[in-house]
Amino acid sequence: MTESEAKQDRSPDPCRGLLRSLRDLAMTLCAVVLAASGCRSEAARRHAGTPEDPWVIGMSQCNLGEPWRVEMDANIRAAAERYDNVRVIFKDAQNSSLTQRAQVEELVEQGVDLIIISPKEAAPLTGPVAQAYQRGIPVIVLDREVQGDQYTMFIGADNVNIGREAGKWIREKLGGRGKIVELKGLMTSTPGQDRNRGFLEGLALNENPGLEIVFAGEMQWLEPNARREMESALATNSRIDAVYAHNDPGAHGAWLAARAAGRDEGILFVGIDALPHEGQQYVQQGILDATFLYPTGGADAIEAALAILQGKEVPKRIVLETRLFTRAASDTKERP
Ligand code: FRU
Repeated sequence: MTESEAKQDRSPDPCRGLLRSLRDLAMTLCAVVLAASGCRSEAARRHAGTPEDPWVIGMSQCNLGEPWRVEMDANIRAAAERYDNVRVIFKDAQNSSLTQRAQVEELVEQGVDLIIISPKEAAPLTGPVAQAYQRGIPVIVLDREVQGDQYTMFIGADNVNIGREAGKWIREKLGGRGKIVELKGLMTSTPGQDRNRGFLEGLALNENPGLEIVFAGEMQWLEPNARREMESALATNSRIDAVYAHNDPGAHGAWLAARAAGRDEGILFVGIDALPHEGQQYVQQGILDATFLYPTGGADAIEAALAILQGKEVPKRIVLETRLFTRAASDTKERP
């Protein structure tokens, strides 16, 4: 064998190399398919899904301090009660991402068959959700999102769209001129980011130079914070025409501050959630001028969970509908 022949012999055979790459690719694909298929989640199911041995769903709620979240858990409980082959364990993280991380890990260790999570913040909950999913436990992410795609499905309304509709509504009501306060939710949670982005799109400030956001504060979804932020807004702005709060507790907190300052008349208050016993009632009472429905998705999550546990195909994303509630035209506040 000449030196050059020996070199050729040691150099990789292109055909063999190709075969090896194809084999590696096939193995990787198999692993991915197995990982994504029902087999993996079946392997993780500890219960039979019968009345004697019901499936166990772990529900990780970020907090129960706000009526909307109490409603979400109630919707989940009511939907689950319609089936005798499923049981739900509820966890309340009391508004702490650290606690919620630990609770998701606990649910995995407890051997639940499926997890539903409404995460407080996207980044800190992404890891625990992905770990549960990679261990074969289906995960339904509800209302607030996590990062990436390591979960079974997401259910929630389109917050960019809701923000955009709120922006358009305020722009039209103000006739393209006016001073606006925005009270934002928690900006490390996706609804806060999306409701802000959509709002700016709906206001279209570039085409409406008469509109101005004179004050923006982060009230983190909480009424007392919103009230404090609004007190600052009122103290620094002699004129305010509209308040857009990322949820109804925020809009109500802003109204309380304005009323205490004797300035609630002449300001439009717009919120989001429209719970019958909260936002819708505020609208009927003339406290809020508008609120957008933000469905909890609790019942939808239970239906989807059962489909997943029965091995059915589910979409990666279900988008829930919104709708606007306003005061009757005859009731509209007089604006100066
Ligand atoms: C409750 C809440 C709702 C809001 C949702 C956004 O915690 O603040 O008022 O619409 O979360 O995720």
